[in-house]
Amino acid sequence: MNRLFHASVAENKQLIKNHYLLTLRPLENIKKPKPGNFFMVAVDNGLDPLLKRPISIHRWLDGDFQLLYRVAGKGTSILGGKKPGDILEILGPLGNGFPLNIKSENIILVAGGLGIAPIFALAELLRKRNPSLFCGARTKNEVLCTDELKDIGIDPVVATDDGSSGKKGNIVNVLKEHIKTSHVTDNILFACGPEPMLKALSTLAEKLNLQGYIALEQHMACGLGTCLGCVVKTTKGYKRVCKEGPVFPIEDILWE
Ligand SMILES: Cc1cc2nc3c(=O)[nH]c(=O)nc-3n(C[C@H](O)[C@H](O)[C@H](O)COP(=O)(O)OP(=O)(O)OC[C@H]3O[C@@H](n4cnc5c(N)ncnc54)[C@H](O)[C@@H]3O)c2cc1C
Ligand code: FES
Repeated sequence: MNRLFHASVAENKQLIKNHYLLTLRPLENIKKPKPGNFFMVAVDNGLDPLLKRPISIHRWLDGDFQLLYRVAGKGTSILGGKKPGDILEILGPLGNGFPLNIKSENIILVAGGLGIAPIFALAELLRKRNPSLFCGARTKNEVLCTDELKDIGIDPVVATDDGSSGKKGNIVNVLKEHIKTSHVTDNILFACGPEPMLKALSTLAEKLNLQGYIALEQHMACGLGTCLGCVVKTTKGYKRVCKEGPVFPIEDILWE
């Protein structure tokens, strides 16, 4: 199997302003990614930008696969201009992915904003185990994938900062209330989202003695474990997000 491969763009659909769903068709055999794996995507054939950009697997569609991304800067803005038939050079799947030998019956998934990109892949895989999914976003139109989640039998709990969809406020507080009122003790968390959300979640996990895993989205250069550009401080020393991660036990991360 090739880790460096080419894929043609089948569709690059704009969902809302600056958010795209990219469907890719690999032109060579590739390894099936697991939830939490990511791909390093070359957004251009030229030298600028030189570095590939890391994007999580969102959905695997029997050979084709989808990436859900937000335009953050130069690289993702070039990606936003891709048309059906364009060919991209891609490396992956990379990273450890979420652990899948889950014993707990009470699986809680938490997605903040674009964190739904990798969390959707996990939700789809675990859907028969009825996971609870908590989605936070700034405002209503940034709550993504709700129809697709319903299609796979998952009705997410939503919270928005401005109260325009679901509960008003922070998704971690909504989760805290849920855990308090459900009286279930063997919850296990899986989360991806902006750093402040992950920090708040790790504080909650420590307080309530919850087990869990978080997917980090650190800046990356090589994606292969050689440049050390993506290290994070953990209780077990410095770890490379691209190699030992991007998924880490929630209690291992030492936040700056
Ligand atoms: C393992 C992994 C998985 C990811 N999965 C997704 C995904 O599924 N969908 C998605 O939209 N994005 C994802 N990202 C983030 C994505 O890689 C960055 O947004 C992208 O590389 C930005 O490239 P750019 O050239 O557009 O922006 P740049 O010009 O490189 O940066 C633009 C701005 O974004 C900031 N930025 C760049 N990279 C990151 C980052 N990793 N985290 C936070 N801020 C950053 C920069 O500081 C700058 O302010 C993932 C990142 C990692 C490491
Ligand atoms: S990006 Fe180079 S070591 Fe992780």
